[in-house]
Amino acid sequence: MNVDGKKYRTIWPAEDGGSVEIIDQTRFPYRFEIVSLRTVEDAAHAIRDMQVRGAPLIGATAAYGVALAMKADPSDENLHAACSALLQTRPTAVNLHWALDRALKSLVQVAPERRADAALELAAAVCDEDIAINMAIGMHGMKLVAALSATKRRGEPVNILTHCNAGWLATVDWGTATAPIYMAHDGGIPVHVWVDETRPRNQGAFLTAWELGQHGVPHTVVVDNAGGHLMQRGEVDMVIVGTDRTTATGDVCNKIGTYLKALAARDNDVPFYVALPSPTIDFSLSDGLREIPIEERGGEEVSRMSGRLSDGSVDTIDIVADGSEVGNPAFDVTPACLVTGLITERGVLEPNRKALADAFPERVRTRA
Ligand code: MRU
Repeated sequence: MNVDGKKYRTIWPAEDGGSVEIIDQTRFPYRFEIVSLRTVEDAAHAIRDMQVRGAPLIGATAAYGVALAMKADPSDENLHAACSALLQTRPTAVNLHWALDRALKSLVQVAPERRADAALELAAAVCDEDIAINMAIGMHGMKLVAALSATKRRGEPVNILTHCNAGWLATVDWGTATAPIYMAHDGGIPVHVWVDETRPRNQGAFLTAWELGQHGVPHTVVVDNAGGHLMQRGEVDMVIVGTDRTTATGDVCNKIGTYLKALAARDNDVPFYVALPSPTIDFSLSDGLREIPIEERGGEEVSRMSGRLSDGSVDTIDIVADGSEVGNPAFDVTPACLVTGLITERGVLEPNRKALADAFPERVRTRA
């Protein structure tokens, strides 16, 4: 990704060799701040407090968290302790389990004196693979955008609605849902993005809008409830969202509000696509509604809101009547029957068990 003309990933090993650097996403969109993670506790805190968020980046941060732990103490005991501490940070994104499972399985086979280096190499591989996967998703997804563009008048944009942030900032680079958008835009296909603000944490308004702006992609931020209305008026050509966990049967768990967009898309014959990197598939699950753990976050995310004041300072205010209960389920499940296609690194798949198993046979074998 390009920030003010400079290339960044969202996470990278620091030059001092003893820490890992991240872009602190709790500061967006007002500040671009880089933070150092020095210990596994720092990594766990960064995931739990959403300095890093988005399923693929959570997995990459966990892999670097293990590397920080192994640098401090490469014993078997500490390896298991680090993995179990990191696993507790957030429940829904399966990439966390995937990355930790991969780290544990590979590092137990490495002698303790080699573990710190091996863990660092593994984390770097997770990051490089994430970028390759997202670029492949971008290539496949761009063809869908191009096909819609071919039905339009010359110069008329393809209107794409997205929810939450499944962009650069949710991954190591490119994003999942945004990769087709960036590639289409770079390839000269006119696109315009409807950005759901994504209450309560505003990942759309704070993160997706910021990065689309950095890349020069035309976009409009709308409140979460506007999508259905825009679809009824023919102002949305396709929806592309990300996912935190997708079952072997194609049920898609993503940021709260995604399901309502899928319902509105179905009612209005708008194609609803999910950008799905394979580490986000949970082949051990078949029923998304019953089996995927949904994170319940603190009520203050709903009852309070942060923003920039006219003097440039950032402050938080209360926005709910005193004494009212608040609820904050952070994700919902869109059943496979509402999904038009899953844009994976191996092509656009139908959302069903056979298509996923045929595309990723090596994952089905291990159910991991
Ligand atoms: O709570 P968040 O911000 O971590 O939720 C992120 C999302 O729901 C994204 O859409 C999802 O992780 C896909 S990211 C490529």
